[in-house]
Amino acid sequence: MEVYEAFEGKTVLVTGGAGAIGVNLVRKLNELDTKKIIILDNLSSSYKWDIPKWEKIQFIEGDIRNDEKLKWAFRSKPDIVYHLAAHFANQNSVDNPETDLMVNGLGILKVLQYSHLQDVDRFIYSSSGCGIYGADSKMPFEEHDVSMKLYTPYQVTKMLGELYTNYFHNLYDLPIVNARFFNSFGPGD
Ligand SMILES: NC(=O)c1ccc[n+]([C@@H]2O[C@H](COP(=O)([O-])OP(=O)(O)OC[C@H]3O[C@@H](n4cnc5c(N)ncnc54)[C@H](O)[C@@H]3O)[C@@H](O)[C@H]2O)c1
Repeated sequence: MEVYEAFEGKTVLVTGGAGAIGVNLVRKLNELDTKKIIILDNLSSSYKWDIPKWEKIQFIEGDIRNDEKLKWAFRSKPDIVYHLAAHFANQNSVDNPETDLMVNGLGILKVLQYSHLQDVDRFIYSSSGCGIYGADSKMPFEEHDVSMKLYTPYQVTKMLGELYTNYFHNLYDLPIVNARFFNSFGPGD
């Protein structure tokens, strides 16, 4: 099966879908034979005008920690969830460590809980290379390398996200993908 066929007729939820990576993902998903794309984003670091106003796209302005907004987002029964919403990134987390913990920690826990209840086909988490490998890992990194020497709350909570996704997989068999992004740049940044 070609990769794009996995999206045929699927409803996809993208948290943080108005952000730099999210907007590009949403544009790509729209090109595929997806049925519907739901964006849940509180616009804390993005702009409404950046979100494409295409027929398949539903934008919900709201926080991933808010149950009402989450119920609304999951009402369309998404098959696939991309969890991109995050308090981003290192320096911001040093300045606002409590917000970082609440958004990146409690936030992913809630989205995972709803994804589990919905029995989604796949949960894809935008993890972070810097949160898993740290700054002092040997090169080249290997997938099983994990650093216990982290320098920012963001690194800690991005790793926490992977611990939570793994936990939902281990206990509930939730199909998860931990995608470890490094520094991205491009349109929408
Ligand atoms: N950009 C990179 O280089 C990079 C590297 C590693 C990992 N990541 C991860 O990829 C994801 C996307 O990164 P990005 O570069 O697009 O960042 P971004 O800041 O552009 O996008 C994050 C989006 O999440 C939204 N958001 C923040 N808090 C929210 C909340 N409480 N509820 C709902 N929405 C909320 C923001 O408004 C924004 O639209 C993040 O999870 C980030 O940690 C990015």
